[in-house]
Amino acid sequence: MNTNLNVITLENEVDIRLEDGNIKKYRLQELPFEFIDWQLELRKTMFQRIMKQDFIPSFQAHLPVMATLNPNGRFPIHTATKGTGFLPKDEFLKEYIELFQNCLEKNKHKTWKESLPARVEVMQEFYQIREKIDFRRLGFLEIFKGRTYHNILANPSAALQFTGPGPRYTSYQVNGFAQEVNSQNLCYRFIYLARQLFEHDSFHIQQPQYPCGYIFWVCEMYNKSPRGHAGKRVM
Ligand SMILES: Cc1cc2nc3c(=O)[nH]c(=O)nc-3n(C[C@H](O)[C@H](O)[C@H](O)COP(=O)(O)O)c2cc1C
Repeated sequence: MNTNLNVITLENEVDIRLEDGNIKKYRLQELPFEFIDWQLELRKTMFQRIMKQDFIPSFQAHLPVMATLNPNGRFPIHTATKGTGFLPKDEFLKEYIELFQNCLEKNKHKTWKESLPARVEVMQEFYQIREKIDFRRLGFLEIFKGRTYHNILANPSAALQFTGPGPRYTSYQVNGFAQEVNSQNLCYRFIYLARQLFEHDSFHIQQPQYPCGYIFWVCEMYNKSPRGHAGKRVM
């Protein structure tokens, strides 16, 4: 099946145009509270550690494995780790873009270490006001335009596998569609600036460019934690 993510027609629906021209409609879902609480808690802990200048060996809440389809490959299932984060609702995108831009601008003459509290503060401000976050979608940046990128262009269906730290190993599979966005798109601007706030911190590999980004539209979720609910559909 060769498909194209075509348009978002209604507030809670994503339309996929199939090769034969037919449109398949999928209902969007908001990520459930259990996932949001888990994500926000791990991110809060991470910021506390960043502020203490701890060594950050991994950041599981931010680094799911993305599975895409490569029907022409010898093995059609393809995976890659991709850094992800929440996105604001459309009506708040410009406000946060401005907040992040101003923070970077205001602190550009400070050392990276000196500007850390200001950078963490604006990011935490975003995570703290849940009403302004669009829990129907996640954001990514593409660095390499490799196989994952080409798979998404051919077929935007994708699954994200998140696994948190032990001994709880909270784990979720999120199914949905990845929509490519270029540098003119406000979601791209938001994700790009969020990355710029921490681009030079030691837990990131500094990248020369981000040729595009993705909005990942959420349709289903399964709990994959190795406990009572293993494999159960959450939404
Ligand atoms: C910890 C970690 C974080 C990564 N973050 C990203 C990312 O945010 N964006 C990206 O395009 N690639 C990222 N990568 C690289 C991808 O996993 C993968 O190497 C890249 O997509 C090229 O592989 P592909 O040709 O199969 O797509 C990351 C890899 C690791 C191990």
